[in-house]
Amino acid sequence: MPEFTIGERDFLLDGRPFRVLSGALHYFRVHPDQWADRIDKARRMGLNTIETYVPWNAHSPAPGVFDLSGGLDLGRFLRLVADAGLRAIVRPGPYICAEWDNGGLPAWLFRDPEVGVRRAEPRYLAAVKDYLDRVYEVVVPLQVQHDGPVILVQVENEYGAFGDDKTYLKTLAEHARDAGITVPLTTVDQPTDEMLAAGGLDGLHRTASFGSRAAERLATLRRHQPTGPLMCSEFWNGWFDHWGAHHHTTSAADAAAELDALLAAGASVNLYMFHGGTNFGFTSGANDKGVYQPTTTSYDYDAPLDEAGNPTAKYHAFREVIARYHDVPDEPPPVAAPAPELTAALTDPVFLLDAPERWGVPERHDALPTLDELEPMPRLALVTTRVDAAGPAVLCFGEVRDHASVFLDGDPVGTLMREHHQRALGVPRGGRLAVLVEDHGRVNYGRRIGEAKGLVGGATLDGEPLTGWEVLPLRLDVPPPVWDDGDERVPVDGAVAGPVLLRARFDLDRPADLHLDTAGWGRGVVWVNGFCLGRYWSRGPQRTLYVPGPVLRAGGNEVVVLELAALTEPTVRCVPGPDLGHVES
Ligand code: GLA
Repeated sequence: MPEFTIGERDFLLDGRPFRVLSGALHYFRVHPDQWADRIDKARRMGLNTIETYVPWNAHSPAPGVFDLSGGLDLGRFLRLVADAGLRAIVRPGPYICAEWDNGGLPAWLFRDPEVGVRRAEPRYLAAVKDYLDRVYEVVVPLQVQHDGPVILVQVENEYGAFGDDKTYLKTLAEHARDAGITVPLTTVDQPTDEMLAAGGLDGLHRTASFGSRAAERLATLRRHQPTGPLMCSEFWNGWFDHWGAHHHTTSAADAAAELDALLAAGASVNLYMFHGGTNFGFTSGANDKGVYQPTTTSYDYDAPLDEAGNPTAKYHAFREVIARYHDVPDEPPPVAAPAPELTAALTDPVFLLDAPERWGVPERHDALPTLDELEPMPRLALVTTRVDAAGPAVLCFGEVRDHASVFLDGDPVGTLMREHHQRALGVPRGGRLAVLVEDHGRVNYGRRIGEAKGLVGGATLDGEPLTGWEVLPLRLDVPPPVWDDGDERVPVDGAVAGPVLLRARFDLDRPADLHLDTAGWGRGVVWVNGFCLGRYWSRGPQRTLYVPGPVLRAGGNEVVVLELAALTEPTVRCVPGPDLGHVES
């Protein structure tokens, strides 16, 4: 029976030293038809292991649901890793951070404000146990001693940056053991004495996360993990982007030199990320250390394999570094072809405020609900009520999470942005008030995980509470069904102000990856053949959205655009390569 264990100085595979050369690849950020391709490119770079988190909220969009189909088929992903001759590391959280909505914790869990977050609180722990049991049903038979690929399982994630509840960590470790996880359990923390002390647990192997100064960081880790292999469980070889900031890049040569230093020190490594992929749909998270910063749709991460799965200069530099220490397959990766270029006209505008009944079924609420109070929880909602005022008045919300567009009798009045801490604006008079509220991604790091979205704390006009709301939730996992099949194509001439849905058709000879240029658009969401690519925003930095080839088909394809601000060019344009925006220098 094969075994993977922790020796005095090394990981041991069947008793022999094994250096883990791993790359992070999140199955939930890559189309499932492309998993095998990305795994194969990891093998060709010289990696021997693939690491993935498991996002609880993606598998469990509602209580009692656990979805393992299609792009969530963790078992299939791990078997593909095994088929490529690689090992696997699984990090099921329950909290994963990862720039992922709410750090992976399901929003429905926190509808009950008494539920604890990342601590030994009974209701939280009961939900966590249900979740982990389902994950371990998949992972247990795929462990190395059952001839599967899984060699390590991580408990929690950088817990020392959040808390120090050892009972919580112990309970998570016991769950894993009770469920049949027999491979070594690890923890990861940022390499400070405080965090390693708070986030570690005796009996679990401590590892660290960092992207530079390997010798110093490994020395800190060694103080807390006196024996066994040293491992950097997240070697940050790039970084993620926020809307409105610059695109992060690091030089391939510098990143390769850091990797070289780590390998020279004898450490094991997990590259974070080997391939970042995409925050498709509404899956991206956000940061908030006083200012809310939503994460972009692209999770390119300036990783060795770019968002479209193509090797970069960093890939080749890392391959060379790894070859100094280990055998690397003599199979360079295939060279990518430029993506097809095309344009298509956007047609058939359907304006939300003109015809809300075509977009969905409204609900009546006396008090203004948050998005979390709606069932199922939407990402956007249009809330309307009648307001009485003879002249100018001040409309005020408790808090706006994360964006509100305010209309009076169908005319735009203004917007409120959480990033600007805005929650009040003047309206010229009374009338039919409509507010489109948008969730831009739940915070995934720090104290704000688990918080509610939408208009929080009610609304007042000149201090008087507003009641009698009509609420239209917009769920958007598929485009709102606003068009009848028989609709004729209505052309659009010039700029269009939203909220509006538009569509376009284009033909392809054969499916291929595309890069959709959003430079002429404002802020919104795009679907291709019903697959939600995610959000776009004129503030950048990203200017293109990645369209994975498997969602396209030979022949006719359909794009649906939900423009919430205004677009200046009613055109779908695909360009040969990505444009992730301006860099810092
Ligand atoms: C930490 C977390 C990861 C990720 C990175 C930044 O290391 O553990 O999940 O958020 O930061 O990309």
